Amino acid sequence: MATITVNGNKREIQSSPDTPLLYALRNELELSSPQFGCGLAQCGACSVLLDGKEIRSCITPVSSAAGKEVTTLEGLPARWAKQKNLSAAQAEKTLHPVQEAWIEEQTPLCGFCQSGMMIKATELLEKTPDPSVAEIKAAFTTSGASAHLCRCGSYFAIVEAVQFASRLMAKGGTK
Ligand code: FES
Ligand code: FES
Repeated sequence: MATITVNGNKREIQSSPDTPLLYALRNELELSSPQFGCGLAQCGACSVLLDGKEIRSCITPVSSAAGKEVTTLEGLPARWAKQKNLSAAQAEKTLHPVQEAWIEEQTPLCGFCQSGMMIKATELLEKTPDPSVAEIKAAFTTSGASAHLCRCGSYFAIVEAVQFASRLMAKGGTK
């Protein structure tokens, strides 16, 4: 058993310590945003933040997340609310600017890869608030375990959504 903070809440994980974090998140905690794509750290569909860094939950054992903070797509609004010191009432109706940008730009096609894409975008923008196009492309291709893959080819829309999110964040999250 391991204790992990998931989206701001401490959770006891019953699965064995070598269980992939992805399985614990989906099957035990019923968080459906991280997807099983390749299972080999080759696509990014399963990405979550672990202490703010994007990791591939399909190859990360639960034991590696013990005592650390996991953020999934479901936890992005609360992450943003905490960073901006929003009140509980404000937080309830707030999406993360990355999510707002993805909606505004109508980025997803089938949507399968997009949770991982938004997690990657969040990691990038927390470190580099105003990334160049080259920095955005590098974040999604060479900065992690592998490139983030989208079989629908939404790459151009993703670059635009990251730029939109960057502008939103610079304005405090409001359009
Ligand atoms: S499912 Fe984890 S990287 Fe593809
Ligand atoms: S939107 Fe379909 S896989 Fe990316």
